[in-house]
Amino acid sequence: MPHLLTSALPYANGPLHLGHLAGAYLPADLYARYLRLMGKDVLWVCGSDEHGAAITLRAKKEGIKPQDIIDKYHALNKASFAALGISFDYYHRTSAPLHHETSQDFFRTLDQKGGEFIVKTTEQYYDPEYRQFLADRYIRGTCPRCGYTEAFGDQCENCGSDLSPTELINPVSVLSGTTPVLRETKHWYFDLAKHEDFLRTWIQEGTVDGVQVHDPTTWKKHVIGQCMSWLNEGLQPRAITRDLDWGISVPHPEAEGKVLYVWFDAPIGYISSTKQWCLDHGRDWRDYWQNPDTELIHFIGKDNIVFHCLIFPAMLRAHGHYVLPKNVPANQFLNFEGDKFSKSRGWGIELHEYVEEFQDFPNGEDALRWALIRNLPEQSDADFTWDGFTEYYDKDLADKLGNFFNRVTVLTHKYFDGRVPTTGAGSQVQRQLRDTLATLATHFEAFRFKDAATTFVELATYGNTYLQEAAPWSLAKADPDDPRIAEVMYDCVQIAAVLALTAHPFVPLVSAKLRTVLKQEIVANGDWAVARDLLASGRPLIESGHQIGQAGVLFPKIVDRKDDTLKNIIQRQRDKLVAALAERDRQVAPTPTPVAPTKTNATILEAPAAKSTIEFDDFTKLDLRTATILTAEAIKKSNKLLHLTIDLGEGEQRSVVSGIAKHFEPADLPGQPVVVVTNLAPRKMAGVLSEAMILMAEDATGKLAFVAAPVGFGNGLGVR
Ligand code: 2FM
Ligand code: ZN
Repeated sequence: MPHLLTSALPYANGPLHLGHLAGAYLPADLYARYLRLMGKDVLWVCGSDEHGAAITLRAKKEGIKPQDIIDKYHALNKASFAALGISFDYYHRTSAPLHHETSQDFFRTLDQKGGEFIVKTTEQYYDPEYRQFLADRYIRGTCPRCGYTEAFGDQCENCGSDLSPTELINPVSVLSGTTPVLRETKHWYFDLAKHEDFLRTWIQEGTVDGVQVHDPTTWKKHVIGQCMSWLNEGLQPRAITRDLDWGISVPHPEAEGKVLYVWFDAPIGYISSTKQWCLDHGRDWRDYWQNPDTELIHFIGKDNIVFHCLIFPAMLRAHGHYVLPKNVPANQFLNFEGDKFSKSRGWGIELHEYVEEFQDFPNGEDALRWALIRNLPEQSDADFTWDGFTEYYDKDLADKLGNFFNRVTVLTHKYFDGRVPTTGAGSQVQRQLRDTLATLATHFEAFRFKDAATTFVELATYGNTYLQEAAPWSLAKADPDDPRIAEVMYDCVQIAAVLALTAHPFVPLVSAKLRTVLKQEIVANGDWAVARDLLASGRPLIESGHQIGQAGVLFPKIVDRKDDTLKNIIQRQRDKLVAALAERDRQVAPTPTPVAPTKTNATILEAPAAKSTIEFDDFTKLDLRTATILTAEAIKKSNKLLHLTIDLGEGEQRSVVSGIAKHFEPADLPGQPVVVVTNLAPRKMAGVLSEAMILMAEDATGKLAFVAAPVGFGNGLGVR
């Protein structure tokens, strides 16, 4: 049975960070490595997603060509994946001619079938100065839901609402900065609604035309939940063409100058990536994509669920002959030190940056893999911290795994010159190893990689406890010829052998190291299946008489290291976060910060950073206005924040969250004149929306006073 795995094709318009790795790539790598060890026919494809408006927009801003951007990031991302042991079978790119052909063929087939596309002429925004229609991302304006002034035409990044460009208040073309005009244009829409019944049955029951094709009880609840919420709202036709000059031309005589929408061609990228690999390996791509036996699994992050569980399956169904995914084990999001990853705010660490920074740390790649695996966002969002990184390495790899190997090898050398002693198989340990392999396999097959990692660590703990309790050193003291010494060491070597083998999917470099210590070849495809069969027939993984090596201290603990290089690298990363927080405070609060630092942030931020000089133009960006506080109340979740409403005059009121709770009683505040910054992007603090910021002054003792015009001064006037 062929196993076809896909990981979301990352956009080649920027570097990837740890959150991406934990979402769609590391879990797939674990699964692929596991299947290969089981001797399965596995093909895992991925590649760069190189179309879309975000790439052209970035190219325009930087005055370079889209090709320059995609070439740079395709190479960078591919190299970062390789450096972290992400073992794709093929990493393709959607700018490749084979991908263009495959996508165009797909479009043609659906078009020729009839009834799959709806062609509609609608009014869309057009920039007369640049003489082009504007993709949704090329239009910014005020969000009609939350008032955020920098919302995109397709989405407000502040409140997360999906928008259409015509909903924006005061739309502006990102290209020319002018107000766009509405013009008629023709587009092709995929009639998703037509496939609603098929999708509902397939998602809920796992059947297609009455045939069971997957088991929906094995799908993650949040995946099914998201699909059902879309299905229950009713599916709409999806535009699959765009007026852009970067992308795959629409193969239709009436579509000149138009390209396929990036989300139409991106998933077809899985097919073209497979085709290229098959061309290179003398295989037929249809054996994977058009073979009812294929087990197709899409690894993605939760933001891609609808595309992989509704739209792409409907496209495959509409085309005909293709297999549908057997499962889509989408992960939730990974945060970083208590907050979302953000390149612009300098929050997080990118993959290439990790690889460069930690290149001199032995096992650095595996240390990162391990910390992420122990904390994968499988069912809910998770948080990566440098403390966690250190702890997982020290407690699991150093204390449990490394220590066990060290003790086993030292004792085997002490009592048997490093040769695995001759003895009958210890049946209790054999059973334990058989059960552990079976439990691990069950977790891997159910995409429960965190549980698999726990089971792996438990085996190391089992080994340590067994050795401690059996205490061969005490036996030897009483009687150096006690046959139980051989039994214990023989058993421990078998435990070590299972650890070295099953470490491979999680931490492949560590596994290679452990196998070297045991003087075994590094793991090869099929090894797990062989081990399983050996244990089932009561045979050992390492025969008596086999010579093993010495482990020594395989993984020196990070906290105990005398050499500070590694601690310094981690400290540099922490310093970077301190700087990012200081920068955020500078931007958000020119006077004492009203931002309540999160718990994690508070521990990172040790000292306020000095503020740098700004230009007059920067200052004039602030819209400062006078206002009066109308109401004030404490916010339950916070002892620093108050929730205020302010009156800006002419009937305009706003909600403000201010960090002044320790300085003022809410009851004293109504009627207080204030000066506020009104054009900061709205943001939520302690779950409450803040739409402006109140200016405060602070004296040397830390006492706060309102910056304000005299009582009775009119509200809503600009401050100069
Ligand atoms: O969200 C993203 O990063 C997209 N580039 C994922 C595409 S997945 C697939 F369809 F190729
Ligand atoms: Zn909004």
